[in-house]
Amino acid sequence: MKKVRLAVLGAGPRWSGLEGSYTEHPELEVVAVCDIADGLAEESAARLKTNKGWDVKVFRSYEEMAKGAAYDAVMITCDPDVQVDYAVAEMDRGIHVMTEVPAAYTIDQCFRLVNAVRKNGVKYQLAEQTRYWYFIKQWRKMAERGEFGRIFYAEGEYLHYSPDWDYFRNKKTGAHVWTHDPSYDNDPEWERTWRYRAFMDPIWYMPHELSPLLSITGGRIDTVSCVGTEKGKSYTEGFEVRDLECALLHNTNGALFSLRAGFNAPYGWKRDTGCHWYQIKGTECTVESSRSTLDLPKQFTPAAGWVDRPEWGCVDLEADEVFRHAAHGGADYYPIYYFVDAILNDKQPPMDVYKAVETAAPAILAAESANKGGVQLEVPDFRK
Ligand SMILES: NC(=O)c1ccc[n+]([C@@H]2O[C@H](COP(=O)([O-])OP(=O)(O)OC[C@H]3O[C@@H](n4cnc5c(N)ncnc54)[C@H](O)[C@@H]3O)[C@@H](O)[C@H]2O)c1
Repeated sequence: MKKVRLAVLGAGPRWSGLEGSYTEHPELEVVAVCDIADGLAEESAARLKTNKGWDVKVFRSYEEMAKGAAYDAVMITCDPDVQVDYAVAEMDRGIHVMTEVPAAYTIDQCFRLVNAVRKNGVKYQLAEQTRYWYFIKQWRKMAERGEFGRIFYAEGEYLHYSPDWDYFRNKKTGAHVWTHDPSYDNDPEWERTWRYRAFMDPIWYMPHELSPLLSITGGRIDTVSCVGTEKGKSYTEGFEVRDLECALLHNTNGALFSLRAGFNAPYGWKRDTGCHWYQIKGTECTVESSRSTLDLPKQFTPAAGWVDRPEWGCVDLEADEVFRHAAHGGADYYPIYYFVDAILNDKQPPMDVYKAVETAAPAILAAESANKGGVQLEVPDFRK
């Protein structure tokens, strides 16, 4: 195979954001795009014709695309809570699959993903990208060199405020509406989007913290408990979402994790990482990213105390242009780079199915814990 022929399922904002960067890959060609909403697949195909000269087939349903187009791999950028059905169907017919964050929404879906990869021997990768940020790579190297001593604590947050979210989708056209008006809930022409469902328990979106932090600590999360603010009661009135959920997790290497997520209150931006924040504490060294737009990334050692580490940004300034110019601080090109490499050179992708479900399952159980008053739950070991 000289080029990976890629199909795309879901041509919403995430795919539009990735399209320019992914299609820079010299060993990839997009051959099909599918979206259930009016016009979106057509718009992507028109851009790809103009920018790349490719003749891309467009479809309105997954079933039509699976029958009507020939491709080697699929990038699934549709609603994350339905993506596992499509991922498994594709892997069962020998198609390589990349899905988006979060990898799964139930423990059963986690097992189905793992079993599909084991059974079919195809490549699966989760497109989680924050693990490729420059400062995360530096912290990973520090851990490998033993500079933290014994890591006993990891902390992170994903607090992504927007005054309105696209909480409703028009049943006929598929168009989303960004609104602060909960009355759409009573209109039979509209239905709730996955975002509304996900933000009812925002901790579901903790994989962007777990993925980079686990890449530094090693091990996996084995127990989790979580609490949340009351649904629909504080910042976003009339919507059944929580402003914040906070999870406490235990890692098999002995580190405690403290993670939080929220999407509905004005939390404040960070200098390099926008809505994400990370900290690692070891017996010999602590590191953290900037907490606001006013401070810098920092390092603490007992000998030197706190020192600023301004070089710990997101973009790797030594990486090739195509990596540096990608969205999300230069991180968004890495997943397609590793996915194509895994397919063409028969390699294990760095964010493989085990690592993917090890970021999803703790989040799923954290949401369950929050709805059961904070009980501690055990996370299955998917590698057994
Ligand atoms: N890694 C990241 O940084 C990042 C950032 C944003 C979104 N995401 C993920 O990307 C995915 C998409 O996000 P988005 O913001 O574009 O969401 P979105 O809901 O705005 O867009 C999803 C698109 O998929 C289409 N769709 C839904 N069901 C479909 C189906 N059965 N077949 C074909 N098309 C279908 C919708 O019509 C819509 O156009 C989600 O999984 C999200 O979590 C990841």
